[in-house]
Amino acid sequence: MDVIVAGDRAGLLKAKRTLGIGAASGEGTLALVPTMGALHKGHRSLMRLARERADHVAVSIFVNPLQFGPNEDFSRYPRTFDVDLEACADEGVSIVFAPSAEDMYAQDRQVSVSAGKMGTVVEGAFRPGHFDGVLTVVLKLFNLVQPDVAVFGRKDAQQLAMIRRMVTDLNLPISIVGAPTAREADGLALSSRNRYLSPHERHTALALSRALFAGAERRAPKEILGAARAVLEGESGISLDYLVLVDPATFTEAGEDYEGEAILAVAARVGSTRLIDNVTISL
Ligand code: PAJ
Repeated sequence: MDVIVAGDRAGLLKAKRTLGIGAASGEGTLALVPTMGALHKGHRSLMRLARERADHVAVSIFVNPLQFGPNEDFSRYPRTFDVDLEACADEGVSIVFAPSAEDMYAQDRQVSVSAGKMGTVVEGAFRPGHFDGVLTVVLKLFNLVQPDVAVFGRKDAQQLAMIRRMVTDLNLPISIVGAPTAREADGLALSSRNRYLSPHERHTALALSRALFAGAERRAPKEILGAARAVLEGESGISLDYLVLVDPATFTEAGEDYEGEAILAVAARVGSTRLIDNVTISL
C-alpha cells in the first residue's frame, strides 16, 4: 500500500482509521520514527526495527526550529522531502507525518518541556536549550501520533537518554527502543550533516570513529580516554568540542571505579560541520 502523508492531527486520525490503528482490541499497533528528513541508511535501519515492533510504522519529518541555536544550521539543514517519501515507501512505512512549522508552533505558545540538569551537560553544554527543544517537539509528536512504540538511534546517545528520562518522569505510555548506529564501511557514522563535508573533510572526519574504536579496545577509563585522544590529536583539521566517558542513563562522568556499560562520546567540528559519534564500552 502507498504511504499516507498527513500534515496535521486530522490527517493523522484519518490515516489511522483507514489503516485500523487504535487502542481497541484487535486493532493494529503503531511505531513512530521521529526524524528531521534528509533520510539516510541510518534512518532506514530505524524504520526496519520499527516494523518488527508494531503492525504499522509512522515516520515524522519535521526540521524543528526549537532545537537549533541562533548560530546553527537550521536554514541550511538539507530538505529532501520527495526522496525521503520514496525511502519511506521502500521501507514499508504506512504514514509520513510532515507538519508545517506554523501548525506545530502557535505564535502565542507558552508551555514547553525543560530537559533539566541533564540537558545542560556534555552535548547540552555546547548547545544551550537544544534538549529542551528536542523534548518539546518529541512530546508534541507523541501526543499527535499516539504511537505504542517509538524508535530512536543510539547515534544521538544523550538524546535517547533524555527521551527515556522524559518517558519515566512524565509517565508517558510509550515504549522506547534504541537502535544501533549505522556506519559507512570505513566507520563514519551516517548523518544528514555528512553531506556538508568536502571529500577532504570527510577523510578528516574518519578520525572520530577511529578514536572511538581505539578507546573501545581499552578497559580502564583513563586508558580509554587517552587512546581516543591520541588519535584525535594526531589529525589536523579537527576542532574538538568534547571527548567524554559517561554513564549511558545519566551522562555523568564514568570515573576510575565505574562498572557496567559506559558511553565514549565525541563531538568535533570538521571545517564548519559539527559531528557527533559514540560507542558503548563494557567496563
Ligand atoms: P535526525 O537527526 O533526523 O535523526 C532521526 C533519528 O535517526 C534519531 O533517532 C537519530 O538518533 C537516528 N539516527 C541518525 N543517524 C543515525 C545512524 N547513523 N544510525 C542510527 N540511527 C541514526 O534526531 C533527530 O533527527 C531530532 O532530534 C528528532 C528526534 C527528530 C527531534 O526533532
